Amino acid sequence: MKLVIEKLPDLRALYVKQLRLLLSAEEQIVRGLPVMIETATDSQLKQAFRSHLQETEGQVERLRTILNRIAGEAEPLKCKVLAALIDEAEDMAQDSAHDAVRDAALIASAQRIEHYEIAAYGAVRHFAHVLGRDSDAETLNQTIHEEGHADHLLTSIAERVNPIARKAAA
Ligand SMILES: [Fe+2]
Repeated sequence: MKLVIEKLPDLRALYVKQLRLLLSAEEQIVRGLPVMIETATDSQLKQAFRSHLQETEGQVERLRTILNRIAGEAEPLKCKVLAALIDEAEDMAQDSAHDAVRDAALIASAQRIEHYEIAAYGAVRHFAHVLGRDSDAETLNQTIHEEGHADHLLTSIAERVNPIARKAAA
């Protein structure tokens, strides 16, 4: 008879696992954003990516602090979703035949990533509340606000860039 191995016995274990996945996600973003900064042509978009890179470095530190506090270590666990989103972002940027179209593609890719992060952080913030870890929840909330702000800024840049992309002749 096969033994059932309970890998996630409780909400605390699920919380730690999801924090480790988020740490991997943020680390992948820290590695991916410099390429996006380089690839973007719109100066406001470049600047938005630059400042989000700085924010993301802080978000990595927040996750490390929370993980060290609850688990005594901060080991990332590979986030396959971010790997796929970054891979797709690179493909779309490479396939774009015009600068403005490429910028539009970069914004769309970055917003997919932001929305994934907002959903994932929303879940762990609620886990933190339920587990009585209010200071974790507060720290995670700071990151959620930064992701939300980045997303709104990208929307406003898209409103300017996408009509330029529409006029671009391939
Ligand atoms: Fe982030």
